[in-house]
Amino acid sequence: MNFYVVFFAYLFALVVNVCSYIIPRETLVSDGCARIHNEFIAKQKTSFCYADVKDCYEGFPFNKDTIDTLTGLVGGFYSFLDKAKEPPQTGFDSKPMDLVAELELHAHTIFSSNCFTTFIFYTNVTFYSVVDNGEQKIKIFNDTIDRSNIDCEVTHIDGQPALQVISEYAKNLVYASRDLGVRFNIALDLTYLSASFAVRFEIPQKPYITYTLKCDNTNEFDIKRDWNAFSNRAFLNKFNDSKSYFDNICNSIEGSKPSISLSSKLREITNEFDKTDGILASDLSVTKIRTVDKFVGFFKVQDFGVVKIFTEAPLTISVAIITDVIHGFNDLANTGVKKIVLDLSDNVGGYLVVSVFFNLLLFPSTYPTFDFDLRITEQLRLAITEQYKLGIKNNIFDMKEYINEKSHANFTSVEDIFGNNVYTRGGVKGNYSNRYILSDSELNVISQFIQNLTTPLPWKPEDYIILTNGLCGSACANIAEHAAEFNNVTTVAVGGIVSNSLLSYSSFPGGFVYNSTQIFDSLSQLGLLNNTIMPKPFPLAGMEVTLPMNEIYSKTNPDEILEFGFRPADFRLFYDEKNIRNISILWSQAAALIGSIK
Ligand SMILES: *[C@@H]1O[C@H](CO)[C@@H](O)[C@H](O)[C@H]1NC(C)=O
Ligand SMILES: *[C@@H]1O[C@H](CO)[C@@H](O)[C@H](O)[C@H]1NC(C)=O
Ligand SMILES: *[C@@H]1O[C@H](CO)[C@@H](O)[C@H](O)[C@H]1NC(C)=O
Ligand SMILES: *[C@@H]1O[C@H](CO)[C@@H](O)[C@H](O)[C@H]1NC(C)=O
Ligand SMILES: *[C@@H]1O[C@H](CO)[C@@H](O)[C@H](O)[C@H]1NC(C)=O
Ligand SMILES: *[C@@H]1O[C@H](CO)[C@@H](O)[C@H](O)[C@H]1NC(C)=O
Ligand SMILES: *[C@@H]1O[C@H](CO)[C@@H](O)[C@H](O)[C@H]1NC(C)=O
Ligand SMILES: *[C@@H]1O[C@H](CO)[C@@H](O)[C@H](O)[C@H]1NC(C)=O
Ligand SMILES: *[C@@H]1O[C@H](CO)[C@@H](O)[C@H](O)[C@H]1NC(C)=O
Ligand SMILES: *[C@@H]1O[C@H](CO)[C@@H](O)[C@H](O)[C@H]1NC(C)=O
Repeated sequence: MNFYVVFFAYLFALVVNVCSYIIPRETLVSDGCARIHNEFIAKQKTSFCYADVKDCYEGFPFNKDTIDTLTGLVGGFYSFLDKAKEPPQTGFDSKPMDLVAELELHAHTIFSSNCFTTFIFYTNVTFYSVVDNGEQKIKIFNDTIDRSNIDCEVTHIDGQPALQVISEYAKNLVYASRDLGVRFNIALDLTYLSASFAVRFEIPQKPYITYTLKCDNTNEFDIKRDWNAFSNRAFLNKFNDSKSYFDNICNSIEGSKPSISLSSKLREITNEFDKTDGILASDLSVTKIRTVDKFVGFFKVQDFGVVKIFTEAPLTISVAIITDVIHGFNDLANTGVKKIVLDLSDNVGGYLVVSVFFNLLLFPSTYPTFDFDLRITEQLRLAITEQYKLGIKNNIFDMKEYINEKSHANFTSVEDIFGNNVYTRGGVKGNYSNRYILSDSELNVISQFIQNLTTPLPWKPEDYIILTNGLCGSACANIAEHAAEFNNVTTVAVGGIVSNSLLSYSSFPGGFVYNSTQIFDSLSQLGLLNNTIMPKPFPLAGMEVTLPMNEIYSKTNPDEILEFGFRPADFRLFYDEKNIRNISILWSQAAALIGSIK
């Protein structure tokens, strides 16, 4: 699953800016994309001034066809269209939303256009937040221009109180959770899986930002920092002016997946340490037991174990890798640790099968998934019906792998899948399918695989604690919420906003997520691409929307859709000057809570 930010609402119609310190005004080329190319060629630069990028981007407005396609996809295939119109549960801070009306995409629905994902914006400063005698503060994590600013307090940003500015940013520009505290964590997140305040994927509103700092007990002073726009050579080689930018980036599938190539660029830019291999390598308090690719790490700290899941979307899922993960658990068990911190922070999701695997391995006596259903629109009804008839392989509308949740029987017809369930959501009556789950035979294969390699792990549910910063979405949420709901595993969330006493330990459980390329490919296989009720493909090749197509329900509270359920952690920790830089301290704080009364 690709997880990148909504690139949507930033079409400013402002005057052309002059980036005079790079190119003398008299030689100024009016095409921003061409100016970037000139800088790249003449000076081999990969970072550019704000004004040039802004001019380059402004040449490519969205048109009505784009909006029509978005509306068609969201109306036809987005599972939460009506549910999202309801006011949020207490504990959340998000707006009820009519997507088709607003086309302002939320959480699991992500729209990106290659046109606007070529550059990342950064002012060479990163941040963190601490709570000091009950007062929450923003501090400098790193400043690559002036290292003496590290750990100074940021009192104001552009003249406004810093905490308020970051909170507003989290509220309005971070989309990945309905919990404002989690969005606040994401705004300050140092892994840059999503937009943050310090590192933007969207073009900022103005060319610079002014931070007011207070270091130790000195007087406050201002630093003014320009937004620099970074890209990499692969992108910069694709264009020399706005026409070639349009042809080779906006309208090219090849230009796609920029967020993936940019994320390595991001690490380069921010010099962010690799939290396991980097800092832990030199940390004698942590024993590395085993790491499996960049997928799972097993550590021993003092007398407890840590299982750090880095992602639910490993680059490859093979028998060898899954075997290694099982061996990692066994090795950790062989150290004799009695308590386990399961660190699920900074996980933006991945494969359902990965969450099912962990759920079966950790908690073999409980059922490993929640229940699913579909919002049956006329588009989905037609697509599933055709697929049922034609039985095409690798089609996202295939329901053959699923069984009826109540009877555990195969569905015998499409009517048997669709059922006869009318629910009112967000004031709208809609048809919803019968509930379904993964087939028992699929689950048995995974169980068998695990049983062939290991006896049950020695730890009971009460020996674990789940630690997250709330950014544990999709397949990660399926691990965390399964552990908490089915096995009563204790949870602890770190960070957030101090004035909100509760913080979610997971976000956007969502549903099965598909991108528009998959939707159109599957419709095409079924001969439905030209059908008048179906959305038309995007006008440009480099556009894509990603959305969940089904709903996931709680088991203990069967009317609750997980995506909309507020699930606060049992315990709360805050970042401080030490644990923000030394994760073993945070792990120790979490481990100390294992066995405490909730
Ligand atoms: C701060 O940035 C510098 C330069 O990029 C880097 O060498 C250093 O390791 C960073 N410090 C921290 C604490 O991340
Ligand atoms: C720009 O690139 C195109 C091919 O992408 C090439 O045909 C054209 O000559 C280039 N123009 C300049 C000014 O380099
Ligand atoms: C800002 O950060 C970038 C990326 O790490 C670096 O190349 C550049 O030198 C930094 N700017 C200054 C003035 O240190
Ligand atoms: C991290 O904290 C632990 C526990 O206080 C300490 O033993 C260790 O040396 C610290 N690691 C680093 C790299 O500072
Ligand atoms: C259900 O369907 C699967 C194939 O999708 C098949 O292997 C299995 O035998 C079926 N079960 C029954 C009880 O018909
Ligand atoms: C539900 O499905 C029935 C049967 O196909 C259809 O007649 C009805 O219009 C649908 N209702 C809604 C609200 O979509
Ligand atoms: C588990 O072991 C049994 C008996 O050796 C074998 O038949 C089966 O294929 C194995 N299953 C998996 C999923 O590895
Ligand atoms: C969950 O754990 C709490 C104590 O931590 C206990 O009070 C409660 O009864 C447990 N619930 C279940 C369903 O086991
Ligand atoms: C859409 O999803 C498919 C299947 O996961 C993937 O191969 C493809 O790269 C995705 N498309 C884009 C543009 O990311
Ligand atoms: C669908 O439309 C495309 C373009 O409009 C056309 O080329 C194609 O022949 C049509 N296919 C069918 C099956 O009608």
